[in-house]
Amino acid sequence: MCGIIGYIGKKQNVIDLLINGLKSLEYRGYDSAGIAYLEQNEIKVIKAQGKISSLEEKTKNLNVLSTLGIGHTRWATHGKPSNENSHPHRVGRVTLIHNGIIENYQELKEMLIKEGYTFQSQTDTEVVAGLLDFYLKQENDKLTILHQVISMLKGSFALGIIFDDDFNHLYAVRKDSPLILGTTSNMNFIASDIPAIIKYTNQYILLENKDIAILSEEKIQVFDENLNPVNREKLTSPVSIEEAKKAPYEHFMLKEIMEEATLLEKLYSLYGFGTPSFLEKLPDLSKYEKIHIVACGSAMYAGLVGKYMMEEYADIETNVYVASEYRYQKNFYSNKTLVIFISQSGETADTIACLRLVKQLGIDTLALVNVYGSTIAREVDKVLYLYAGVEIAVATTKAYLLQVALLSMLVYHTALAKDLLSEEEQEKIKMSILELPKILDELLKKGITYEASQILSKASDVFFLGRGIDYATSLEGSLKLKEISYLHSEAYQAGELKHGTISLIEQGMPVVTIITDERLIDKTLSNMKEVKSRGAYNILITTKDWISSDDSVDLAITVKEVNPLVQSLLIVPILQLLAYHTAKIKGCDIDQPRNLAKSVTVE
Ligand code: G6P
Repeated sequence: MCGIIGYIGKKQNVIDLLINGLKSLEYRGYDSAGIAYLEQNEIKVIKAQGKISSLEEKTKNLNVLSTLGIGHTRWATHGKPSNENSHPHRVGRVTLIHNGIIENYQELKEMLIKEGYTFQSQTDTEVVAGLLDFYLKQENDKLTILHQVISMLKGSFALGIIFDDDFNHLYAVRKDSPLILGTTSNMNFIASDIPAIIKYTNQYILLENKDIAILSEEKIQVFDENLNPVNREKLTSPVSIEEAKKAPYEHFMLKEIMEEATLLEKLYSLYGFGTPSFLEKLPDLSKYEKIHIVACGSAMYAGLVGKYMMEEYADIETNVYVASEYRYQKNFYSNKTLVIFISQSGETADTIACLRLVKQLGIDTLALVNVYGSTIAREVDKVLYLYAGVEIAVATTKAYLLQVALLSMLVYHTALAKDLLSEEEQEKIKMSILELPKILDELLKKGITYEASQILSKASDVFFLGRGIDYATSLEGSLKLKEISYLHSEAYQAGELKHGTISLIEQGMPVVTIITDERLIDKTLSNMKEVKSRGAYNILITTKDWISSDDSVDLAITVKEVNPLVQSLLIVPILQLLAYHTAKIKGCDIDQPRNLAKSVTVE
């Protein structure tokens, strides 16, 4: 979703600074971009629809040394992507950028129209600029004006604001949308995320909801929602400049897949998996009789893999819900219910809304989150971090893998606490886990056969099939392919296809089937034969070498067999690479697929 950067400090090439900052936020997803900066005591605004390169084209001959500027990438919500609807918006003496949605903008707009205001765009954001300008005519104290306007806004917002009568300050406010303040002794920043400012500083402050910040060249002042000055803790980001670069890989997505083995090893060692110290860091899941897992997108599919594991090994009824549905449906809780939230960004609006709802009911909550200090991480009862580092490609890979890994760790230790694992089983799982990062590393280095991607790249529809946990994994494989290669694809429970959807199978249509569960081989093979006899091209991903030669199989990818609890951690990278190479063959924009946003901060 929208990306924000703002700068105040010593004079420098502010256009470069803003545009480079925006480039490092491209992963959030956007369809237009714009900047505003101070030049000769005036605010200049430049905007361009489309990629940041269009904005660069418009600014390439400008060489401006300035002390103040704001920049924005817009992911359209109110009004189509266009120059007029791009940020920054300027009304009267106010210029601003916004991430979020102002839900009551229509009524505020009508009020301002009655006051004689006219608007150039269809956005909710321009109304906020109008409102600030309106109050600026009555009151000069910016804190008072901001406080007044915030109290009138419904919805979510992270705002960066410049007032024409105060070029010595940059103003920022946030409610339910991410915003950080980067700080140094002679430059201060606002940004949606660390990569935008990491070139200048790794020191940052997280704003609480409804905080107002006033930034000048040398200092940052923060006021809470009652306008009391507050000291928000200064944090040091672990993100390095290197992490924000994709070299030597062609795409961030490939770089992030290739990091998976190292990150898995780090996760096991940080949490001390398999050792008693692991339990100290974890909540005691054994006391719960029911678990709800709530998330969106890939995080929800990771949860589904978790459900199969939790029920099979730890004997706890576990249900998985899409966050945007969960909050409006009837849910059944008891004092033995735990709700687990999964989110890479920790800022997904629907997941946050569910967390707040569940907390209000007094139900125990736990979150698996990647981004340190994100809203979900701060508001949940207990948080377990993924330690995936920054994930820049819009389509998640390494964070998904670590979500599944962390879930398997929770399951193992819950089963242990409930005395459900024999010593022999414990030993087998521990052995498997110890060798897993090495096996994954070898698998990643070997890569996959391009032949499968070539077949997929020529198709217009693809099916993924699996049973049980393999079905859960196939959902993520199918989503990855859709996201980055724009191929229509569906994941189905292998046994269910024949109840209607099999009518779609045509000559040559690729069907990707996953078989890892020993108990389900015969049944799933029969399903492969069903689609084969209707013309499908069968691609099999399996741990059982011997079924590769079955006459229903056209192409097989075999993966080393490990303990079933962690087996999907070896299947998922294959699916990710399959999608990656298919998208590459098709020439798609792999790191920034059309229409998608990495962090969905609107409901
Ligand atoms: C977006 C992203 C997905 C992600 C989902 C949930 O749709 O494009 O890749 O899985 O949001 O995001 P979260 O940050 O909560 O994991």
